[in-house]
Amino acid sequence: MNYKFKNLQKKKGKQKIVCLTAYSKSLSRLLDKYCDVVLVGDSLANVLYGMKSTRNLDLKIMVEHAISVKKGLKKSMLVVDMPKKSYKNSTSAVKNAKLLIKKTKCDAIKIENNFQNQNILKAMVKAKIPVMGHIGYTPQFKSKFKVEGKSLIEKKKLINQAKKIEKLGAFAIVLECITSKTAKEISNILKIPTIGIGSSSMCDGQILVTDDLLGLSGFYPKFVKKYTNLEKIIVKAVKNYSKDVVLKKFPSKKNSY
Ligand code: KIV
Repeated sequence: MNYKFKNLQKKKGKQKIVCLTAYSKSLSRLLDKYCDVVLVGDSLANVLYGMKSTRNLDLKIMVEHAISVKKGLKKSMLVVDMPKKSYKNSTSAVKNAKLLIKKTKCDAIKIENNFQNQNILKAMVKAKIPVMGHIGYTPQFKSKFKVEGKSLIEKKKLINQAKKIEKLGAFAIVLECITSKTAKEISNILKIPTIGIGSSSMCDGQILVTDDLLGLSGFYPKFVKKYTNLEKIIVKAVKNYSKDVVLKKFPSKKNSY
């Protein structure tokens, strides 16, 4: 196990794990110092490409963005999402994950788990691919948003699913939009770190889509905290640029050769 994986395991129960998404070098280089994990999430389908869902994303796009993100990283662990179509069965999952790792030099990959793809996770781990799991609200498999783990039945189902994913060999697991109580129980039971998004402070770490926390995506559900409003800042700058061009204030002599 390399030091990045050891570092994550060591932090469980001691120090929170910091994770964010990035889709390009311009951003990953700014995140690197402050993050344990940078994820090239398939959320880029919605955030960057304006697609309605993440389901039609192909592997090639993930490879290109991951190559770019890797260029901005010195110390953070790079995790890349497998697009839904790239892990339909064990054979394609192993083949495509190996391709992703080879082409992007990422440290690990992430898949969304349902009850049908446990054999896929098993095959990937057997092929020595470091896998991060993902349960709760999993956009690749669920079209309707719902907070999970509210009823006793749901709670038990999620706990069993998380235990199985750990047993199959995932090194960490994302808990998306799971109630605080259930997230707490899962985090207490598992030995591997839990990374929450919309799943309270009870998780071992947190992840957000960076564009959301920067106020750039226009998507701000309850679980997102906007740390700045880049939309406002960019609009102001572009407005000033536009005005300057029209009024012939830009470019000035200072900006000319
Ligand atoms: O695609 C993504 O960005 C993700 C995170 C939100 C966990 O899966």
